[in-house]
Amino acid sequence: ISGERETWATRIGLILSMAGNAVGLGNFWRFPRLLAGNGGGAFMIPYFAALLLLGIPLMWVEWATGRYGGKYGHGTLGPTFYLMARESVKPRTAIVFGIIGGMLAFAVTTLLNSYYIHVIGWTAAYAIYSATGAYYGVDTVQFFNNHIGNTGMVMATWAIPMILLFIAAYRGVSKGIELFNKIMMPLLYLFAVILAVKSVTTGAPVRPDWSSWAGLEYSWKPDFGVLMQNFWVISLAAAGQIFFTLSLGMGIIQNYASYVKKDDDIALAALTTASLNEVAEVVLGGTIAIPIAYAYLGPSVVKQGSLGLSFMALPNVFTSLGEAGRVFGVLWFLLLFFAGWTSAIAMYNYLVALLEEDLGVKRKVAAVVVFIVYLLLGLPVALDPSLTYFGELDNWVGSYLLVLLGLFDVIVAVYLFKPGNLWRELHNGALIRVPEVFKYILMTLTPAYILILLVGTTIDYYKSGVFAQSDPLIVGARVAILIALLIGAIETYYGIKRKYARELAENRK
Ligand code: PHE
Ligand code: NA
Repeated sequence: ISGERETWATRIGLILSMAGNAVGLGNFWRFPRLLAGNGGGAFMIPYFAALLLLGIPLMWVEWATGRYGGKYGHGTLGPTFYLMARESVKPRTAIVFGIIGGMLAFAVTTLLNSYYIHVIGWTAAYAIYSATGAYYGVDTVQFFNNHIGNTGMVMATWAIPMILLFIAAYRGVSKGIELFNKIMMPLLYLFAVILAVKSVTTGAPVRPDWSSWAGLEYSWKPDFGVLMQNFWVISLAAAGQIFFTLSLGMGIIQNYASYVKKDDDIALAALTTASLNEVAEVVLGGTIAIPIAYAYLGPSVVKQGSLGLSFMALPNVFTSLGEAGRVFGVLWFLLLFFAGWTSAIAMYNYLVALLEEDLGVKRKVAAVVVFIVYLLLGLPVALDPSLTYFGELDNWVGSYLLVLLGLFDVIVAVYLFKPGNLWRELHNGALIRVPEVFKYILMTLTPAYILILLVGTTIDYYKSGVFAQSDPLIVGARVAILIALLIGAIETYYGIKRKYARELAENRK
């Protein structure tokens, strides 16, 4: 049991790093597109329900889980879940829960990041396009599609975040991340505020009935008809987005929390970072892309909720500013680039920790291995301009798997670890007391909500023939998920066995 793990240097550094982990393209790229594509205001209802019943309570669970694992030298989910489950069951049963957690976290950190890094690449491309003025005077929807179809440019701009991630992981990142986030995060907020103001003050430059104001109304006025028609799918998408944006259900909150000193506050820190993220998402992310898209591209483009929505919308604002817009455009896309990058590094770091701590691989070797994994997994995303493979992955990994891991958060870290132990762990050194009611929410409403969502959507998918699709890109994405789960399970099994072979052999309680 190693007591010599690295820890975060300062409290503000920890909070900003956790916020840097959480605040990313999920807020400015994924949230608006889901909101737009799922009926606007109607999406907000299941979104806020999920925030309250799943997001915030699980945030506390994952922070507590992570710090607990860190005490035993673990920054990955498999061994941490194993140790927690052992509070209630024999080692040989506990290892099953370890494997489930480790396998899901592995599949998410490999596959989700494989397309996330691509979107970071898009921001790099758009920073360049802003500098050269490439999108001035052209149809920005067409421009985006051309970009995606331009394989050379897509690959070249994907290489930028890939290489920067590799260098950071190879050299060891923790101190760098802290310093970097302290500068980058405040700038991002400042800029987003400016853009949000600019967005709502844009009139109706194209057609009188297309205005940013109408876009804002679309985002907030619930249309119950849409919600009722696609109840399960929209509800799961909303819950999935809560997980995605708060970085829950991935193993990476636990990983960052594993570097918190054992008597430092986590209760308030978890709440603070969740709040910082939600402001960036609902207030800023929700006010930028959709109103702009509504004003310049019109409601029918908005309602498609395309993966490229933000990239189709934003250039119009910069263009409207004339020459100054080029500078603004570069700055904004660079900020997005870094916001995405500080999230992607958290996933990268998870896999490096996994190779290092679980399997005993040297850090530099681990950094190379992870680079190769992301390279291979990223290729099908880069080479498919239809974005079918990408969309399918995002749909399953970004919604389904994250939420499923949330269910195991509850089973393992609340039930098997026992609610009393969890509450004690959470309040060790805490600066606030979490209201008891959340303990009961965690034991009842949270798992029930997730179960109902997963069952409801699965039945819905089954009925509408989702499982019968035969497009090779769609099937390919599903096969990739299954393979990642399998490899994750095997890896976790060996990782736990390596450390706990003795007690597994004895199999006592
Ligand atoms: N919370 C991140 C976001 O909103 C999601 C994420 C984290 C994605 C880490 C990839 C890696 O963008
Ligand atoms: Na986020």
